[in-house]
Amino acid sequence: MTTLTAKQIHLTSRPAGMPTHDNFQLVEVELPAPQAGEVLVKNLYMSVDPYMRGRMREEGIYAAPYALNQVMYGGAVGEVIESGDPDLQAGDIVLNQCAWQDAFLSKSTGVLKLIPFDPDQISLYLGTLGMPGLTAYVGLLKYGEPKEGETVLVSAASGAVGANVCQIAKLKGCRVIGSVGSDEKAQWILDECGADAVINYKTCGNLTKALAEAAPDGIDVYFENVGGDHLQAALNVMNPFGRIAACGMIASYNNAEPVPGPNNLMLIVGKKIRINGFIVSDHGDVRPEFIGTMKQWIKDGKIKSRETVVEGIDNSVDAFLGLFAGSNFGKMVVKL
Ligand SMILES: NC(=O)c1ccc[n+]([C@@H]2O[C@H](COP(=O)([O-])OP(=O)(O)OC[C@H]3O[C@@H](n4cnc5c(N)ncnc54)[C@H](OP(=O)(O)O)[C@@H]3O)[C@@H](O)[C@H]2O)c1
Repeated sequence: MTTLTAKQIHLTSRPAGMPTHDNFQLVEVELPAPQAGEVLVKNLYMSVDPYMRGRMREEGIYAAPYALNQVMYGGAVGEVIESGDPDLQAGDIVLNQCAWQDAFLSKSTGVLKLIPFDPDQISLYLGTLGMPGLTAYVGLLKYGEPKEGETVLVSAASGAVGANVCQIAKLKGCRVIGSVGSDEKAQWILDECGADAVINYKTCGNLTKALAEAAPDGIDVYFENVGGDHLQAALNVMNPFGRIAACGMIASYNNAEPVPGPNNLMLIVGKKIRINGFIVSDHGDVRPEFIGTMKQWIKDGKIKSRETVVEGIDNSVDAFLGLFAGSNFGKMVVKL
C-alpha cells in the first residue's frame, strides 16, 4: 500500500492584470493509498496553457473558474504507481486533468490510459498529439476551410497551436504566413514549419503594411490566436469571402480593463468575411480521426514538434507566466 506526498499549486487570489507569484502558493498534501476504483498517479509532465488565465478570473471565460485555495487543474501525463482498478496497472501511462500537482489520487475513470506513440515522447500528448494539436486540426480544417493555393495567416505562429496550424496548412497546399515575436522564432517557422513568409510583429513597424507585403495576393484564411492589432491588420489585408478561425486572443488575457477593439470591423461586411469562434472541447468526436492522421504525419516526418521544457513543479508558475512573454518555442510543458 503506497502513500505519497504531493506538491500542489493553489490559486490563492485572483490576478488583476498580469499574474504574479503572490497569486499562487505551493502546498504539500499527503495522499493515502488507493481504494477499489481509485488510482494513485505520479505526474511526469504537466501542461501550462493560455486558457488557464481565463480560469483565474472570478467569472471564468468559457471554462469554469478555478476555486480559490484549491489546487488548479489542466492537462497532464503521469505514471500509475498503484491501482485499485484491475484495468490499470502500476507503470501504465495515463492522460489526466490533474495538472499543477506532481502526484494525485483520483477515481480511475478520471484518467485515460495511453499506449504511447513513442515512450520517449509522452509529452507529445500535451502538445501535437493533444489538445493544442486537435485545436489546430479542427480550427483550421473545419472553420478555416483552406483550399489549395490559398494564403493562410497564423498569429502566435511558433506556439503549440500555431506551429501545427502552419504545418497542416502547408500539407493542404496553402501559402503560409506566420506572425511571431522574435527573429529566432521567425527563422524556425520558415526552416522547420514550412512557412513561406514571416513577420516579427515586435519589429515590423506597421503591421498592416508588413502583412500586405508578405501576402501580395491577400489573405484567405486567418487563424486568430492573438486579437487586437493582429485582427485589425488581418481584416485590412483579407480577401472577399475570407474566413477567420477565431481560436484565441492572447493579447487581451491580462487586461485588467477592456481596451478598445479594432476600428475596422465594417470590413467584415464589405468583404463578406466569415468569423467562427470555436472551442476545442466541443470537438472530442474528431479526436480518433485526428490521432490517427497526426500520428501518421509525425511518422512520415510531415509534422515536426518542438517543446520548451521547464523543470519542476516549483517552476510551473514561471512556465505559465512565460506564455505571455513569448518564452516558449512550440509547446510549453513542465517536467515533474
Ligand atoms: N479555442 C480553443 O479551444 C483553444 C485551445 C487552445 C488554445 N487556444 C488559444 O490559442 C492561442 C495559442 O495558444 P497556445 O497554447 O498555442 O499558446 P502558445 O502559442 O504556445 O504560447 C503563447 C504565445 O503567444 C504569443 N503571445 C503572448 N502574448 C502575446 C501578445 N500580447 N501579442 C502577440 N503574441 C503574444 C507568444 O509568442 P510570441 O513570442 O510570438 O509573441 C507566446 O509564445 C491562445 O490564444 C489560446 O488561448 C484556444
